[in-house]
Amino acid sequence: MRREIIIAPSLLCADFAHLADEVHALEAAGCEWLHFDCMDGHFTDQVTYGHIVAQALRGLTDRFFDCHLMFTNPEKHLDFFAEAGADGISVHYEVTDDAAGLLERIRRLGCKASLAVNPDTPIARVEPLLEHCDIVMIMGVFPGYAGQSFIPESTQRISELRGMIDAGGYETLIEFDGGVNADTAAGVIRAGADVLVSGSFLFKHPGGYAGAVEFLRDVAAAVG
Ligand code: DX5
Ligand code: ZN
Repeated sequence: MRREIIIAPSLLCADFAHLADEVHALEAAGCEWLHFDCMDGHFTDQVTYGHIVAQALRGLTDRFFDCHLMFTNPEKHLDFFAEAGADGISVHYEVTDDAAGLLERIRRLGCKASLAVNPDTPIARVEPLLEHCDIVMIMGVFPGYAGQSFIPESTQRISELRGMIDAGGYETLIEFDGGVNADTAAGVIRAGADVLVSGSFLFKHPGGYAGAVEFLRDVAAAVG
């Protein structure tokens, strides 16, 4: 039987004029994690925000701060994020020749180490790194924007990773980021995702944040 899913709303879709209210509302809706989409304007087109937003919100909640670093030079920023109160830090496989070293640095900083994998990076590349990963984050879209269409091959990529993790007896969580919605959530959960990032689906849900959370939990229960 699959574990309970963890829901990680992407603050990229929040109202930045009222971030504190957003955090309280997401907490009240039962979201376990808060996902920070940090973009540098090099790895991605746009620049979003860095550790100072996590730092500003840290005093408001004890929810898990899941910091997704879409940076070409994440090594320069790990200490800042750890000091800001990050619980987990994701670095991209595509930006480094020493993913294992980066992931172990994240662990030494007291954070969960997460490896993010773009849609065109073969999942097989992750296998030798699994011992260094508390989390592997499979991207369902190319990093850069919320609200993009789910890349259908993503489901198969989750299954492939699920197989590797289970066969190796690892505790690594599978996080899925990008394109989660009413049509795609069941396939993503069935394939083996433990953590669902949700941006546009959750923030624009007609039933509010609680409605979106309830929907995703119902889907998970139906998948079993
Ligand atoms: C993509 C980001 C995602 C994205 C999620 O660059 O890493 O976290 O904002 O948004 P949706 O759920 O709308 O795809
Ligand atoms: Zn993200």
